[in-house]
Amino acid sequence: MKRYEKLAGEIAQSIRDGVLRRGDKLPSVRLASSSRGISPATVFQAYYLLEARGLITARERSGYFVTGGANGIPQLPEPEFTTRPQVTQVDVSELVFEILGSVRARKVVPLGSAFPSPLLFPLKSLARTMASTVQSMDPWSTVRDLSPGDENLRRQIALRYLIDGLKIPTDGIVITAGALEALNLCLSAVTRPGDAVLVESPTFYAALQAIERSGLKAIEVPSHPRLGVDLDAMELAIKEHKPKVCWLMTTFQNPLGSLMPDDKKKDLVGMLTRHQIPLIEDDVYGELYFGDKRPMPAKAYDTEGLVMHCSSFSKCLAPGYRIGWVAPGRYSQAVERIKLTTTLAASVPAQQALAAYLAKGGYDRHLRTLRHNLLMQQIKFIEAIEACFPQGTRLGRPAGGYFVWVQLPDNVNALEVHRKALEAGISVAPGPMFSAQRQFGNYIRLNYGHLWDAGIEAALKKLGEIITVAG
Ligand SMILES: Cc1ncc(COP(=O)(O)O)c(C=O)c1O
Repeated sequence: MKRYEKLAGEIAQSIRDGVLRRGDKLPSVRLASSSRGISPATVFQAYYLLEARGLITARERSGYFVTGGANGIPQLPEPEFTTRPQVTQVDVSELVFEILGSVRARKVVPLGSAFPSPLLFPLKSLARTMASTVQSMDPWSTVRDLSPGDENLRRQIALRYLIDGLKIPTDGIVITAGALEALNLCLSAVTRPGDAVLVESPTFYAALQAIERSGLKAIEVPSHPRLGVDLDAMELAIKEHKPKVCWLMTTFQNPLGSLMPDDKKKDLVGMLTRHQIPLIEDDVYGELYFGDKRPMPAKAYDTEGLVMHCSSFSKCLAPGYRIGWVAPGRYSQAVERIKLTTTLAASVPAQQALAAYLAKGGYDRHLRTLRHNLLMQQIKFIEAIEACFPQGTRLGRPAGGYFVWVQLPDNVNALEVHRKALEAGISVAPGPMFSAQRQFGNYIRLNYGHLWDAGIEAALKKLGEIITVAG
């Protein structure tokens, strides 16, 4: 990423975080250039880029000021949230399957998809590495690399943990078929039918489906659209309903995009340690941050091995390879044994190819470009929503990932919007699929992980019209 793009990205982030507000003056070009040690031309380029995005505006002889959104339209407020935990039997699978089934067609504009565009990934470079790895593959590795998985890959993952300041030994990592398998293994390792599992509300529908399939109950705890799960409500729910495990996304939660601040993650782990409740931490979006460093997972504060940290390469490097992992802490043996008795191992060629790709270098460069592209796509996307959606719309501005959680005016039915949008060739993810109690009837999750083009712009305009008519 070029320097001016980095500076523009950081300023855009500050605007989204509310650190810089509408009307605030940006530092002068001279000051920004001397304080950051970059040339005035670079600062100018960054300011031009932000101006072109409608985020700042130049006032003659006064400098640059934050406009707050496209063409000076004020930023939409954050979605609302409630604070009452609820316990329920889960019955969302049919709804989720119905919605997922309807949005897969290639010709549908994939605003409701859970995946980013595959074109954002270094597919050619991965394919070359895969080909050369498979050609020189030791035939015995297909026997040797059963669970916990290819040692080189586990070492590469342990190295990345280390760079982020987490000491996870190579043999503390189990390779899985994507993060979803990792999450399910953890759930099986610590629950029996009838147990209760604490989740965020709203939460990733696959967590609800796993709970439903395993005969468990869900305790849904309200989550703030920017700051994540409400810890006071969570502690009350723990005391009252005694969950066996918590399943949370502390970084760029799906669907909210919320990011728990470091202190809050620390308090969360402290609370779970006091109650001796394990945490399944789903961290598949952690690498997709727009700030200057990777947000620490809750696992970083875990001193007793209670946190099972799950992630994968599906969202940031190699979609379709189906390689993920879990660092299960004190539950290592249980997780590894369930893996061995269910799917035995993850694909050995895919594991080896990813290990070789990571060892070769270039992953961080790819990630920087990916983050930059996602941030730029988010800026355009949010500008379009601000311009096209009706009054009463509220909007989260995530600091990473590729989802935006949109609260529609009260009287708009998200399932109805989903149906009408699909007729017009556009998918959205309606709020009720993220809740065991089918809450969030007037919310939708939109995916900005696809390259911005006239098709997406037109789809957002059309969606705005559908929502306006539905209101
Ligand atoms: C929050 C979350 N966790 C886990 C997954 C599954 O990840 P994987 O594709 O690596 O199995 C997804 C995919 O949509 C997700 O959004």
